[in-house]
Amino acid sequence: MYFTAGGQGCSSCHGNDARGDQGPNIRGKTREEIVACLQTVVQMAFLNLTEEEIDAVAAYLAYLATQP
Ligand code: HEC
Repeated sequence: MYFTAGGQGCSSCHGNDARGDQGPNIRGKTREEIVACLQTVVQMAFLNLTEEEIDAVAAYLAYLATQP
């Protein structure tokens, strides 16, 4: 579980290592892409993230993209 909002994090749909599960692989996705999806992806509309949380998720996805 790499992020939790209201008890459910990105990992529940995108997998524990962000490689994808019910949702696509989101490793290396940028802050802009995350913000766009929070507004447009129906399944993600319930997520209510602060600016700090979005920054933290974007930084973590960028880090994951450097990992094998
Ligand atoms: C309830 C399930 C669910 C949760 C929770 C969820 N997502 Fe998603 N996400 C999806 C689905 C499904 C799609 C694909 C939507 C589409 O293609 O129409 C998606 C797409 C995305 C995309 C775009 C991927 C691409 O290839 O363009 C990003 C980025 C993303 N999610 C980030 C996140 C982040 C960050 C979180 C946690 C804060 C999160 N998601 C939590 C279901 C979820």
